[in-house]
Amino acid sequence: MPSSHTRRSLLTITLGLGLSGKAQSQPQQSTQQVASAADALKPGVSLIDLESLAHKSMPPAVFERVNGGAADELTMKWNREAYERIRLRPRVLVDVSKIDTRIKLFGQELPFPILLAPTGGHALIHPEGEIATVRGAGRADATLVISTSASLRLEQIAQAASRPVWFQLYADEDRGLTRDLVQRAESAGCKVLCVTVDNPINGVRNREESARTALPFRARPNQQTAPLETKGNSLETFRPIRPKKLTWDDIDWLRSFARAPIILKGILNPEDADRAVKAGASGLIVSNHGGRQLDTLPGTIEALPSVAQRVSGRVPVLVDGGVRRGTDIVKAIALGASAVLIGRPYLYGLSVAGSAGVASVVNILRHELEIAMALTGRASIEEIDKSVLW
Ligand code: FNR
Repeated sequence: MPSSHTRRSLLTITLGLGLSGKAQSQPQQSTQQVASAADALKPGVSLIDLESLAHKSMPPAVFERVNGGAADELTMKWNREAYERIRLRPRVLVDVSKIDTRIKLFGQELPFPILLAPTGGHALIHPEGEIATVRGAGRADATLVISTSASLRLEQIAQAASRPVWFQLYADEDRGLTRDLVQRAESAGCKVLCVTVDNPINGVRNREESARTALPFRARPNQQTAPLETKGNSLETFRPIRPKKLTWDDIDWLRSFARAPIILKGILNPEDADRAVKAGASGLIVSNHGGRQLDTLPGTIEALPSVAQRVSGRVPVLVDGGVRRGTDIVKAIALGASAVLIGRPYLYGLSVAGSAGVASVVNILRHELEIAMALTGRASIEEIDKSVLW
């Protein structure tokens, strides 16, 4: 049994994390999970393999929620395919005996340019929820972006962190609630506020919707108002949607009191990127929400070059969506990213082996990045530029 599932840790969950009474809806440790935990930590496993291991270890409805995208899932597929189409140019006989993957971002030194993207509801995946995730991130020296829709209070997660954490904000239309949440995140020590701007309403999530009735109850202690869903319970009655009203005014307003740097997540359009920089954003994340929002948007690595060109070094640009290989990170940096974030892979790691699984996912990707740098003749991140592309 993996150490993260000890009886003591289960007791902590029941007694300390306010999840008592929901015990029967928490994921159960099965023999299959134990088997896949051992597989997940076996040398030679890739992030791609972890998806099928997680498919076996997650309850089916939870897997559908995590793995699914919007509508026909074309954007989700293109996120991956776009990386696969880009080829690399090797360079030989360069001294790559020392590989340095360190970067500086928003005043923070990161040992490598990989962060854990904000994702909600980790208690659906692991009995310790985000506590297991943040411990795994700490074991691997990675920064976790805590989601507004986390299963636990952001303070509990931040307290369990051994590395700096960031906070992802779903701004509420009620400014009082939003201000309160931002101030809580700052007091808990979150270093960066990552405001998600591509979600005035959830996309058409057919797969997630079909699985919804089989999903256990999901606590969202940081979100005071219920998230806005696209559909009602009955298809007989048409229900008009009411997307959340959030505009550039809200970014100005957030900047007027937030002390932490504000970065905007979910930018694909260079016009928006320019406007964000002019509005005082300290950084951007080129993201299509892992293909979960508007289907048929391009893969993020296709959108990155024009955004990076428009931003033109004024602020750091990060990218997420479909990053699964060390070579993907080299490509993203070559095309203008300062760092990448991963979403689903660490959730798969969490499901198969708890915090050790999260750490493994980061370590695998970091290891692959170092190999890709050595084989393209780049000893440091600054040495990666467009000439590394074929
Ligand atoms: C997400 N994502 C997300 N984004 C965000 O800003 N706030 C959130 O609460 C969530 N929740 C969430 C849940 C799940 C299950 C997934 C898969 C994704 C999007 C996430 O931050 C990121 O943009 C994508 O996951 C990146 O794509 P990959 O790495 O999953 O392909």
